[in-house]
Amino acid sequence: MKQNSKAPVRVAITGAAGQIGYQLAFRIASGQLFGPDQPVVLQLLEITPALGALNGVAMELDDCAFETLDGIVVSDKAEVAFKDIHYGLLVGARPRGPGMERKDLLLANAQIFSAQGKALASVASRNVKILVVGNPANTNALIARENAKGLDPRNFTAMMRLDHNRARAQLAAKAGAKLVDVHGVTIWGNHSATQYPDFYNAKIRGRAANEVIADEAWLKGDFITTVQQRGAAIIKARGLSSAASAANAVIDTVRSLTTDTPKDNWHSVALCSTGEYGVEKNLIASFPTRVKNGKVEVVTGVAVNEFSRGKIDASVNELKEEKSLVGDLL
Ligand code: NAD
Ligand code: LMR
Repeated sequence: MKQNSKAPVRVAITGAAGQIGYQLAFRIASGQLFGPDQPVVLQLLEITPALGALNGVAMELDDCAFETLDGIVVSDKAEVAFKDIHYGLLVGARPRGPGMERKDLLLANAQIFSAQGKALASVASRNVKILVVGNPANTNALIARENAKGLDPRNFTAMMRLDHNRARAQLAAKAGAKLVDVHGVTIWGNHSATQYPDFYNAKIRGRAANEVIADEAWLKGDFITTVQQRGAAIIKARGLSSAASAANAVIDTVRSLTTDTPKDNWHSVALCSTGEYGVEKNLIASFPTRVKNGKVEVVTGVAVNEFSRGKIDASVNELKEEKSLVGDLL
């Protein structure tokens, strides 16, 4: 029998009986996120009516006999599920349906994140890292952060990695390149239809993506709209919003935020702006981000031309507008 003396990492997943939660819990429990030698305790939160389904998820987790899974907490109380956690993956929220924009969920979901921010402040580990997935993810992360007094604001992030992965996949397909050859993609701004997938700084096999693809009209047109509208396209195709790819992006995000980033590359995550690239302070906006010596930082010196500036400003303006709609929760 394998002996493991490492202290477990405590990970909360909210909405753990939902579509994304059902993927995510198993991937983390199996060791895919923290590795085969790191025990994990999963602390799963659901609303009361979903506790029966959540107990079923816990039974299935037991039945996998994952050697990395060191315990499961199942609860409908945030103060129980968030106790001493090192990571909080805030997935639980209503998803949009066909014809809705993500910000249409703002008022429906905002209360969840103010209550959970308070609970995090009262019981989570002082260095807890939060990744908000529930939409509209950026403004929900802002609400959680503003309600989590005493926790480090920079530890509150929102997921942009699904968009980042979508953009890489589109560029690789258009160029006939392998994904491993596509670097330097950035998603700027909001996880919404205004997000700006920046191809100007992307490289394919070490060369500028716009030289390799040599079709600026496609890059400025269909490429951007395909990435911006991909979530809606999946809802139209599946009748449900993305789930496996979203859970995969959670794994990618947490791994990227916890391991040093290879030189000359970066990834996209939305974090608390300190004014980088002219983005209003304190908004949760997506930037080119890297980790150096364990520290998360926004990459500086990425070129922003006039076209990019206009697109970034439009997405940041939407974040400002969303913030103004939830002023009473901040
Ligand atoms: P889902 O409806 O399948 O699951 C959501 C779960 O959250 C449900 O089981 C529900 O009971 C639970 N829940 C609701 N309120 C809760 C609360 N207060 N506390 C704990 N749990 C709660 O939805 P899903 O497909 O898993 O999507 C979840 C969210 O993630 C949606 O808002 C969706 O739009 C969003 N999403 C974001 C991204 C992204 O890239 N940021 C990608 C995909 C989906
Ligand atoms: C996505 O990008 O797939 C998610 O945010 C779900 C949605 O509503 O688009």
